[in-house]
Amino acid sequence: MEPQKKRVFSGIQPTGNIHLGNYLGAVKNWVAKQDEKVNFFCIVDLHSLTVPQDPADLRFQTRSLAAMLIACGIDPQKSTLFIQSHVSAHAEGAWLLNCITPLGWLQRMTQFKDKSAKQESVLTGLLDYPVLMTGDIIFYDAHEVPVGEDQKQHVELARDIAQRFNSLYEEEFFIVPEPVIPEVGARVMGLDDPTNKMSKSLAHVRGHAIRLLDEPKEIERSFKRAVTDSGNEIAFSDDPEKAGVNNLLGIYKAVTGKSEADVLADFANARGYGDLKKGVAAVTIEMLRPIQERYQALMADPVELDRLLAIGAAQAQAISQPKVDQMKQMMGLVPPRR
Ligand code: TYM
Repeated sequence: MEPQKKRVFSGIQPTGNIHLGNYLGAVKNWVAKQDEKVNFFCIVDLHSLTVPQDPADLRFQTRSLAAMLIACGIDPQKSTLFIQSHVSAHAEGAWLLNCITPLGWLQRMTQFKDKSAKQESVLTGLLDYPVLMTGDIIFYDAHEVPVGEDQKQHVELARDIAQRFNSLYEEEFFIVPEPVIPEVGARVMGLDDPTNKMSKSLAHVRGHAIRLLDEPKEIERSFKRAVTDSGNEIAFSDDPEKAGVNNLLGIYKAVTGKSEADVLADFANARGYGDLKKGVAAVTIEMLRPIQERYQALMADPVELDRLLAIGAAQAQAISQPKVDQMKQMMGLVPPRR
């Protein structure tokens, strides 16, 4: 008998522009492993509501991201691709998880601390966000969660919440998920500030990010402006002074899939950082060209996109709703099935 394939769940927020960090840290790896696993990929629009959104904009961005993920290679025939708010089990089950999650676990999340420090008025949803994320993962019995480095702490929290539910109600009811962080591309840094990660919330700032829909000229310009240092040595390095060059080399490595030695060989004759920047821009433009073409074609056919998303939502609901219904029985909300 063929061994059972592992289940994979991952998610991405529709707001802010999808950028090279999201692609290299997450989406590229989702695409690569599609045949090996049973996959659920979710556009987490409920997560986007944790900061104020313009409704029309949110609606557009959600559909646009769905098209972009398919353009990147997520195949709806192989993977379940869906929009979080189309599957009511997520919000319903998150409430149940809220009621077993200690407040202190959420207050110590570094992303909450960082984001809330930058806002005048912090919404309850921002604090609660990792509980919703936990439900996303565990309602699908997912074993693996492929994410970039910045989401590791949230997946660890999901493990704690799953274990707590299991110990309160039924051992092994939830699978305890594992984060899967890629070796290359797990932390793409901002081009304008290579000491901080490339971020969706700053993707509109000129020169910060490469957005997947940027035109070639824009990509060249952003790399050209990338912050480096006053030296001229092209080498991988942990030295904070060299973070800019290290980030450019890391991007080149993740885009081309080459080894560090081969990457350095490509720049052996470079006459300074200008050549490095041109080289990174060239491979990035070539990688994005077919993705951008497929995206435009998908956006031109909204009926087909809706059809695919409706299939995804139905598949997702069929898995997650029974799990949440079982939780309701265990927690005393509805009579157990005879
Ligand atoms: P989000 O939308 O911020 O990011 C989507 C994915 O991109 C990765 N990522 C990066 N990787 C490398 N370098 C970067 N600079 C970079 N920036 C972002 C993220 O780690 C993530 O994998 N809470 C999640 C979405 C979510 C989720 C889930 C993920 C909701 N439910 C369940 C996994 C499982 C988020 O906001 O990701």
